[in-house]
Amino acid sequence: LKKIRVKLSSNAYNIYIGDGILKNTGTLLRKLIEGNRVMIVSNKNVYSRHGKALKTSLSKYFNVSVHLMPDGEKFKTLKTVEGIYNACAAGRLDRYSAIVALGGGVTGDTAGFAAATYMRGIPVVQVPTSLIAMSDAAIGGKTGVDIPAGKNLVGAFHQPLFVLMDINTLLTLPDEEYRNGLSEVIKHGIILDKRYFNFIKDNRVGILKREKNVVFRMVADSAAIKAGVVVSDEKEKNGKRALLNYGHTIGHAIEAEGGFSEYKHGQAIVLGMIAAANIALKTGFCDEKTVNEQIQVFNSFNLIKPLKNLKTANIIKRLYNDKKARNGQIRFVLTKEIGHAKFIKSVPNTIIKSELEKLYIGEAL
Ligand SMILES: NC(=O)c1ccc[n+]([C@@H]2O[C@H](COP(=O)([O-])OP(=O)(O)OC[C@H]3O[C@@H](n4cnc5c(N)ncnc54)[C@H](O)[C@@H]3O)[C@@H](O)[C@H]2O)c1
Ligand SMILES: [Zn+2]
Repeated sequence: LKKIRVKLSSNAYNIYIGDGILKNTGTLLRKLIEGNRVMIVSNKNVYSRHGKALKTSLSKYFNVSVHLMPDGEKFKTLKTVEGIYNACAAGRLDRYSAIVALGGGVTGDTAGFAAATYMRGIPVVQVPTSLIAMSDAAIGGKTGVDIPAGKNLVGAFHQPLFVLMDINTLLTLPDEEYRNGLSEVIKHGIILDKRYFNFIKDNRVGILKREKNVVFRMVADSAAIKAGVVVSDEKEKNGKRALLNYGHTIGHAIEAEGGFSEYKHGQAIVLGMIAAANIALKTGFCDEKTVNEQIQVFNSFNLIKPLKNLKTANIIKRLYNDKKARNGQIRFVLTKEIGHAKFIKSVPNTIIKSELEKLYIGEAL
């Protein structure tokens, strides 16, 4: 069992990482809240596999209710949040109670937002079960939902009471979802930590086979990297947290242009990172070796799906509508060398366009 302390000045908390630790949740939570009621929010898919262990653990100390929300990004909505509110009321939760979110990033973001707003805020425990949620989404207190105008446009910062990652749950994660998570995990290495990047590169086989000791280290170190970023920039004010958006400017545009079905988030941001790497090269920000190192690792994990059927012009249009675009300038995170990314205020449009076009014919790959 590993414990990482997220040292925020006003709401510090622990992240626990281990194998088979769902059964410890009740004991950990008992020390942190006064009330006797908790509600698990999950979906059928995850709950049928891992719900029992969690519920048994919580039932030793609490009156436990369970609310299952529908599965999928398209249910990350205010309507689902309303369903959670009603379940909170039916379960008579109050500020001394807690919501325990069991699932991937969709569950964590939605249940976290419900917890942030029900009775102006009740405690939430994050129990992430996907690789994206463990390495990224469950840490840092960003919660929220989508509205038709865009992803994550409604939300709140609400730090969890603690985060509990049972790597055993990753064994039931579908391969496609696991790969999605690998894209974000590799991103952490590229932007902030060369040693971690090399660890991922050198442990390809163990990672793909999901060997427990390798997965444990992959998850624990990724969580530590994310936690470090959150501590240095809790509310995304000084640019440190924005580094996590590496590959996401173009990635989000590709994801949206593909109607959120043609490209999974992980696939889209891999293309975004490759384009960003080539933009960095073109603008003299990095050397060729830095670009090749990134492309090689994506290739070795088989994460690259070249662009097809989407129009460059439409992708570019979407870049300008991004919530991070300012005064018509598209801002990028670029990597100087592995482990060192920087926020760059603007990149000439001609370069963006030509690097984007290369993603189609695979010239950039
Ligand atoms: N809050 C943040 O800081 C933050 C950061 C990154 C991503 N996100 C959000 O996270 C979401 C993506 O997260 P995700 O990829 O986990 O998506 P997800 O929650 O939809 O999970 C992906 C799929 O895997 C299933 N699943 C999850 N764990 C499982 C397990 N152990 N066994 C079997 N199936 C399992 C889910 O039911 C779902 O079908 C997006 O909405 C994104 O905006 C938030
Ligand atoms: Zn992402």
